[in-house]
Amino acid sequence: MEKLSADIKNKMKTKIQKLPKCELHLHIEGTLEPELMLELAQKNHIDLPYSDVEAIRIAYQFNNLQSFLDIYYAGAEVLIEESDFERLTWEYLLKCHKDNVVHTEIFFDPQTHTSRGINFTTVITGIHKALKRGEAELGITSKVIMSFLRHLSAEEAMQTLEAALPYKEWITGVGLDSSEYGNPPEKFQAVFDRAIEKGFLCVAHAGEEGDASYISGAIDFLHVQRIDHGVRCIEDESLMKRLASEQIPLTVCPLSNVKLKVFQSMQEHNILKLLDKGLVVTVNSDDPAYFGGYVNDNFLALYEFLDMNERQLRQLVINSFKASFLDKKQKDFWIEKVNSG
Ligand code: ADE
Ligand code: ZN
Repeated sequence: MEKLSADIKNKMKTKIQKLPKCELHLHIEGTLEPELMLELAQKNHIDLPYSDVEAIRIAYQFNNLQSFLDIYYAGAEVLIEESDFERLTWEYLLKCHKDNVVHTEIFFDPQTHTSRGINFTTVITGIHKALKRGEAELGITSKVIMSFLRHLSAEEAMQTLEAALPYKEWITGVGLDSSEYGNPPEKFQAVFDRAIEKGFLCVAHAGEEGDASYISGAIDFLHVQRIDHGVRCIEDESLMKRLASEQIPLTVCPLSNVKLKVFQSMQEHNILKLLDKGLVVTVNSDDPAYFGGYVNDNFLALYEFLDMNERQLRQLVINSFKASFLDKKQKDFWIEKVNSG
């Protein structure tokens, strides 16, 4: 019996692996693996409160979003030079290649770095160089989404938007992340209005820790094209109907949600319920170095704990391409590959 279930699990693993996939919710700072954190700390002479990889992994016990963010922002302090951002991004692209992720839309948080005296140019140039190399050497296409830290002021977000304008060609969209409670979408309405005027596409984290009103707020005040997380939409039946009828995608991050106690266990996660209600839900890794897995690990968790079947797997993967910022021709190309794979 045990042998049989291991065989079935391996079959599903192979199916997940074989499908070309797309990732839409990934913080590049959240891909900083402990080994690289220690290496960069040593190179850049940054004192870390950890002596080795084991100590870092032990520290990664979170009770909620804020307890994670405190550790995540501290970890990002090892990123100083352009080559650090390039290396970080390149290491993530190697993970994509391993998981057969063929397109990725990554967030970066400029304010996490500019607040420490790192130039905006240093950050975006390092990320951009790695993404170009990823396309040339690994065939992975990408988009960049600049996220504003919502615990900071709208004025600071506006200044960050202005700093990004010379790099508009490298940045497709803007987003909103960090501490959700007490920082509702409407706080950033003017910033998003200006971003839209300048031609950026918009997304926002909402309904991760904040309630369903944060999701409707992001749609109505910020005019977002996708909601990041959004799992608390389940608390508002009419909002769920709206998300389904308007086909507004949710970039869901199962392992993250369990680590940050949005759900107490993977068995309680609602992603497949939302999928079966016709919402455009997608599977993503959020901050994989902190939450225990990249995209394929997230899919595998849905199989192991929620009995995801092959039809649901395929639909989730198709949803990601559909919800991406790729053009129609590229979307159709990949969706056809998923359907025939
Ligand atoms: N920044 C990085 N990961 C985040 C998450 N899951 N929610 C809000 N802000 C974040
Ligand atoms: Zn996130």
